[in-house]
Amino acid sequence: MDRFWWRQLGMGLWGSCAALILIFVTPVHAQLAPDRIALCASCHGADGNSPNGEFPKLAKLQVGYFVRQMEDYKKGKRKSSVMQGIVAAIDEKEFQAFAQHFNQQNPPAPGQGDAKLLARGKEIFYEGIVGSAVPACSGCHKDDGTGTNRYPRLAGQHPEYLIQQMLSYKSGARDNDDRGLMRTVAQRMNEAEIKAVSQYIVTLKGDEE
Ligand code: HEC
Ligand code: HEC
Repeated sequence: MDRFWWRQLGMGLWGSCAALILIFVTPVHAQLAPDRIALCASCHGADGNSPNGEFPKLAKLQVGYFVRQMEDYKKGKRKSSVMQGIVAAIDEKEFQAFAQHFNQQNPPAPGQGDAKLLARGKEIFYEGIVGSAVPACSGCHKDDGTGTNRYPRLAGQHPEYLIQQMLSYKSGARDNDDRGLMRTVAQRMNEAEIKAVSQYIVTLKGDEE
């Protein structure tokens, strides 16, 4: 009688564990239908390798960073009339699937960069700017520019977009960065330095791939 009772309890525990494991291994995010990607393709390209410097390349952006940006547009924490209009029509439950679609694409093709600015840009990227206490970009975004969920991928990004974002951080127009890390970096840089480092970043192909 006693032993039976213990066995029941044991089965119950195993049952709960099995149920929990099932919850964790079952994919909760459905595959995106192709017509959903069409919502993004006209600007970002279906593979996230946008041909136009006004629209950021999304290919290989970290999933966590991507979802956070979508949420921030939705809440109005990151401002862009274009993107706020787009996310208004998308359910938050779909953000993860969009992020995963773009993360699974080929890495963006690197660009040439402006040859005259590459040496200065490279120096800023790996060493920062000593006189004005600008830290090396590589310290957070990694040596190859591939980044992490917290410090997003920059490698191969359009210089036009990078410059525009750095100027927005500098003016405070973009202020959704955790603890103001990027605002602090950008405020210490002048426009020439921002341009130089952006020209270097587009040449990074992301060595890990
Ligand atoms: C009409 C053009 C347009 C369309 C369509 C569009 N976007 Fe964007 N997207 C932009 C622009 C412009 C920006 C930069 C906005 C800014 O300065 O914050 C941007 C930025 C983003 C960013 C931030 C990237 C980064 O590196 O921080 C994400 C993520 C994004 N878009 C996802 C999407 C998704 C997903 C779709 C489709 C559901 C989509 N976009 C459709 C124009 C567009
Ligand atoms: C102390 C860490 C740190 C350093 C150093 C740093 N960054 Fe960042 N960077 C961040 C964080 C954190 C974010 C993401 C902010 C967010 O979540 O909105 C970011 C985001 C960015 C973005 C926006 C990317 C996008 O897709 O919109 C750009 C551009 C950028 N950094 C450029 C630079 C450059 C250029 C340097 C060097 C001059 C640099 N960063 C140095 C932490 C850092």
